Amino acid sequence: MRVGYVQFKPKFGDKEYNTKRMMELASTLDADVIVFPELANTGYVFKTQEEVNDLAETAEGPTVMAMKDFAKEKGSLLTFGFAERDGDSVYNSAATVTPEGNVYIYRKVHLFNREKLFFESGSEFFTFEWRGVTFGMMICFDWMFPESMRTLALMGAQVILHPANLVLPYCQNAMVTRCLENMVFEVTANRIGTERGLKFTGMSQITAPRGVILHRGTKTTEEAVAVEINPDLAQNKKINDFNDVLADRNPRAYRLG
Ligand code: ACM
Repeated sequence: MRVGYVQFKPKFGDKEYNTKRMMELASTLDADVIVFPELANTGYVFKTQEEVNDLAETAEGPTVMAMKDFAKEKGSLLTFGFAERDGDSVYNSAATVTPEGNVYIYRKVHLFNREKLFFESGSEFFTFEWRGVTFGMMICFDWMFPESMRTLALMGAQVILHPANLVLPYCQNAMVTRCLENMVFEVTANRIGTERGLKFTGMSQITAPRGVILHRGTKTTEEAVAVEINPDLAQNKKINDFNDVLADRNPRAYRLG
């Protein structure tokens, strides 16, 4: 299976340009799975609730519909961030659309910084199957909480799809540990550029079980990259004959609330 990402610089508020640019860059890729950044169609730095409300769309809105058509045409599974409206609520969401026409929506559970002013947090991690592989989604700052990827790994996810708009310098290195401790693959698609004074760190990354970095992108250029992976490798959670990163967990000792 070939998995990849599109790293680009969205124009704030220009959904038409952003969606077109996402498709242009993705068209250059030979990939089964393509991940795009968080809030890819809108941009990230919202200043008011009105801006968010104006740009947010439902899960049946024009961006998801256009990407659904593109997934079918390209024959690839696509995951991208968008501002989702559902009734009176807005979420920082990721949609996965498949060539078969399935749509899965994940709402960001751990909101970062001023996102808390504008979005409601999601309440559920989940997995889904495609072509015999189990996938899960998380969005950007979810990386900071080991529970995010652990929950997905315990649910059986082999490949984690991770749209991001990273501004801190830690995530890419942290993904080495996240993938080692869960023995999963992950694709982090980050954005580049500066928007309304906020600088994004690029360096999108594809990481394998045992913490192997398969590819790390540039800091400042738009690019689309894919690599071949064997998702079966994520089924082996063993470190040696006696240790297994999931089976050896001892929740009684953790006294989690
Ligand atoms: C982030 O969660 N966009 C840093």
